[in-house]
Amino acid sequence: MKSESQVIVHPARDVRGSVSLPGDKSISHRYAMLAAIADGPSRVENYSTGADCASTLGCLHSLGVKWEHKDVAENVIEVRGTGLSLTAPSQALDCGNSGSTIRMLSGIVAGQKFSSEMTGDESLSRRPMGRVIRPLTAMGAQIESQNGCPPLRIAGAELKAIEYKMPAASAQVKTCLLFAGLLADGETRIEEPLRTRDHGEVALRAFGAQLERKGNAVRIRGGQRLRGIEARVPGDLSSAAFFLCAAALFPGSQLTVTNLLMNPTRARLLDILAQMGLRISVTQLDEIHGELVGTLQVEGGRLKGAAIAGADTAALIDEIPVLAAIAPYTEEGIEVRDAKELRVKESDRIASIATNLRAMGAQVEEREDGLKIPGGQPLRGTELESFGDHRIAMAFSIAALRAQGDTLIRGSECAAISYPGFFPALEELVER
Ligand code: S3P
Repeated sequence: MKSESQVIVHPARDVRGSVSLPGDKSISHRYAMLAAIADGPSRVENYSTGADCASTLGCLHSLGVKWEHKDVAENVIEVRGTGLSLTAPSQALDCGNSGSTIRMLSGIVAGQKFSSEMTGDESLSRRPMGRVIRPLTAMGAQIESQNGCPPLRIAGAELKAIEYKMPAASAQVKTCLLFAGLLADGETRIEEPLRTRDHGEVALRAFGAQLERKGNAVRIRGGQRLRGIEARVPGDLSSAAFFLCAAALFPGSQLTVTNLLMNPTRARLLDILAQMGLRISVTQLDEIHGELVGTLQVEGGRLKGAAIAGADTAALIDEIPVLAAIAPYTEEGIEVRDAKELRVKESDRIASIATNLRAMGAQVEEREDGLKIPGGQPLRGTELESFGDHRIAMAFSIAALRAQGDTLIRGSECAAISYPGFFPALEELVER
């Protein structure tokens, strides 16, 4: 049985101080996978401390890739790339809770000369994989699944390039197909319905691959060799979202976030929070391997409402849980539409959010593809579930900061999926 822990969050007065986040989860996965199939070694500093990115490293180890933690305090890993071919695993590749690991790595194992099995925990075993199975099958891989869910048994093949119009926006699927396209014969063209995060494209270029982007389409020629890199992963913006929303709750907050990922395909949260009333200034901006990284200074102000739909929903998909959790405290409330995808994340996030907000005394309208949460509602501290979902556990610890009374969150250990040090870091920043 898994051991469950709980956390008690006390109300706060404001948020003050400076924080630097562990490396971005999306970039860490991609750097580790590309370093594995590059020629020569790579060194990655500030690799994500999350359990999901450790799952990626575990799978790469099973595929014969040698890597080591060089400096545990600085989260430095060195990966010895094996070139485009990996070694047949002697056991199933355990992807844990990580949708990114199973979906993106499937694009690499599909192009190998061996078969692999990819498994995961109970939550991952319920998540839809048809979105990668269909295009990879069209490229020549043979994939068995449990009604479209993990475990996946992938018989690797000599992949053929495809032209693929993605039916739904997903950066994981786009990246999976770019990786498969790199191993395929010919030129693969992937068209997405909306621009999603572009870390796959940026990372491939950093490792020396050439890609061509025109509008929402990207092309990659198969057979290009990658070369190892030395990189530092910018701080995770989706993890910073919890602290930024915490600061937004109190007019007296003053928070500095250093070494933060500012990639424009991820930074929509900053625009939304600024529109809601958080005062945000960027005091430094650099570029590392094509990724923007900067320092933010924020001050609490008003907390107006927001309407999130369409391309905004896709751009904010990982930040919606925390925006929704603070919605009752806003002046006009928050409405989220076009977010059906949230139902098939680590938990059914629409249901998890509605259940917890109601438990705290809020009125919430739950819809098939979103939520409508009126503003001007005080919340009360109570006992909540994390539903085994890291972003739900962290989101409600932020809502708890302005609640009346203490809030207990059960199963809070799941925060370690993306951010093991989250609760101590939050305690450092809040003033009571
Ligand atoms: C991710 C893409 C998003 C996001 C996930 C990470 C990525 O998923 O929710 O946390 O790194 O590409 P989808 O591709 O399913 O939208």
